[in-house]
Amino acid sequence: MGRPQSVAELTQLLRGGGYLADRGLATALFVALSLDRPILIEGEVGVGKTEAAKALAAVFGRRLIRLQCYEGIDTNQALYEWDYARQMLQIRALSERQLDTDDAVDKLFGPKFLLERPLLEAVRAGDRAVLLIDEVDRADDEFEAFLLELLSDFQITIPEIGTIRAETAPLVVLTSNRTRELHDALKRRCLYHWVGYPSPEREVEIVLVREPNASEALTRKVVAAVNRLRGLDLAKPPGVAETIDWVRTLDTLGETDLDARTVDDTLGAVVKERDDLELVRANLDGIASGA
Ligand SMILES: Nc1ncnc2c1ncn2[C@@H]1O[C@H](COP(=O)(O)OP(=O)(O)OP(=O)(O)O)[C@@H](O)[C@H]1O
Ligand SMILES: [Mg+2]
Repeated sequence: MGRPQSVAELTQLLRGGGYLADRGLATALFVALSLDRPILIEGEVGVGKTEAAKALAAVFGRRLIRLQCYEGIDTNQALYEWDYARQMLQIRALSERQLDTDDAVDKLFGPKFLLERPLLEAVRAGDRAVLLIDEVDRADDEFEAFLLELLSDFQITIPEIGTIRAETAPLVVLTSNRTRELHDALKRRCLYHWVGYPSPEREVEIVLVREPNASEALTRKVVAAVNRLRGLDLAKPPGVAETIDWVRTLDTLGETDLDARTVDDTLGAVVKERDDLELVRANLDGIASGA
């Protein structure tokens, strides 16, 4: 499938793929697709940042190439690596005389011995891929700097082989939880969208898209309770992912209503910090019913 013609069409396509994008996000994604610009999605935890990239790949029939960032990630994990084991086998298979030629050594550093990592894969796949660079805020500064070449020119330089350029641009989605501020240079190369918590009505809709068998009445109560939890001063306020988990948990237990007891029994689906649990347990009735 090509590109969407309008924001409305993109919204519809994503909805068909089980992802509900509000107008702001759909517009940002539409522009990113239309202008071949990377998009940086920042926001609260568990509000559908990663899922947005997955949904885009699914509805456009593109391959999802995912690079999960972490502290200490480097180009070996992100870009390419030489296949040492195969190089060693090749060296052993060659006679000493064969090894003496430059040609044999050059071949050892040729495409046959290159292990592609996500960024190289994405440059090669071009617009047949969605490249998800997930949680980029966890990577170090140097890695961020290294991403700049890729994001501005969609090209990658491998000293032994040369520069590999994407013929067409992959859609690049970066996500961040904002555990640290990203560099201006990185941000300048991207479109930007902040994802906050959805409105209660939309959150109910999201849960029902994800859990079509869930009771709407119970879902409404859970969403209301989650919103009350977000109003407390919790260290880890629940995201949409937790709302879905909570509905699922209640469903599994055959619970049809949310009262202080059921909240207490199932709190582990939504609140995952000891201090937060204590704060919530001190106010169970209020959370369950808003009383
Ligand atoms: N707008 C949405 N439409 C459909 N599902 C959604 C939406 N937002 C969130 N979800 C659901 O919430 C879950 C969590 O979303 P996701 O993993 O994308 O969050 P995230 O923002 O990447 O969180 P984290 O910051 O923890 O990485 C997804 O599995 C998805 O089911
Ligand atoms: Mg995520």
